[in-house]
Amino acid sequence: MVRALLSTLLLATAVAAAEPTVYLIRHGEKPSNGSDGLSAAGLERAECLTHVFGPESDYDIGFIMAEQPKSDGSRQRPYDTVLPLAEELGLTIDTNCTKKDYDCVADTVENYEGEGNILICWEHAALNNIVEALGVSSYSNYPSDAYNLIWTDPYPWTEITNVTSEDCPGLDTD
Ligand SMILES: *[C@@H]1O[C@H](CO)[C@@H](O)[C@H](O)[C@H]1NC(C)=O
Ligand SMILES: *[C@@H]1O[C@H](CO)[C@@H](O)[C@H](O)[C@H]1NC(C)=O
Ligand SMILES: *[C@@H]1O[C@H](CO)[C@@H](O)[C@H](O)[C@H]1NC(C)=O
Repeated sequence: MVRALLSTLLLATAVAAAEPTVYLIRHGEKPSNGSDGLSAAGLERAECLTHVFGPESDYDIGFIMAEQPKSDGSRQRPYDTVLPLAEELGLTIDTNCTKKDYDCVADTVENYEGEGNILICWEHAALNNIVEALGVSSYSNYPSDAYNLIWTDPYPWTEITNVTSEDCPGLDTD
């Protein structure tokens, strides 16, 4: 009886998969001339994120995903936005999922077995599709004129509980 109870408890512990909180952000600002990559403000934001989500923060990021860049230099912004942060945290950015493969993103989250929480950086419109793939049914679309929002989607990933600002000095605050 005791033994059965113990093994049930042990099993429950072993089965408890990772239950990371997912944070979703947009890439940094675009150049006004339409070029690929980040503008000066976008590069500043990428630098700011090393403070927002870095080792001194409470976010405990253990895994970073960015939309897969194309070899022609497009779709590079999400990757460039989280690169300084990834270096700061000593993480490799996962770029296995292409822009519109929302199920790939959801599967990666669901299969994650590592430590810490997950940060996802993508193009803003696709963030809506990604949270839907994760099971969120009700949300306000990520606004096209904002670059600073952090969506918090805790396990089991069916509700965005917080929309906060990165509060990057000079970009989002005075
Ligand atoms: C467009 O702007 C970016 C960043 O501000 C700059 O690096 C790039 O050289 C510009 N491209 C052209 C074609 O002017
Ligand atoms: C991403 O792809 C690499 C290379 O194929 C693979 O080693 C890695 O396990 C993949 N990551 C995930 C989370 O599936
Ligand atoms: C997120 O929302 C929860 C509950 O609504 C609140 O307790 C928590 O402080 C919020 N977190 C942030 C970072 O704002």
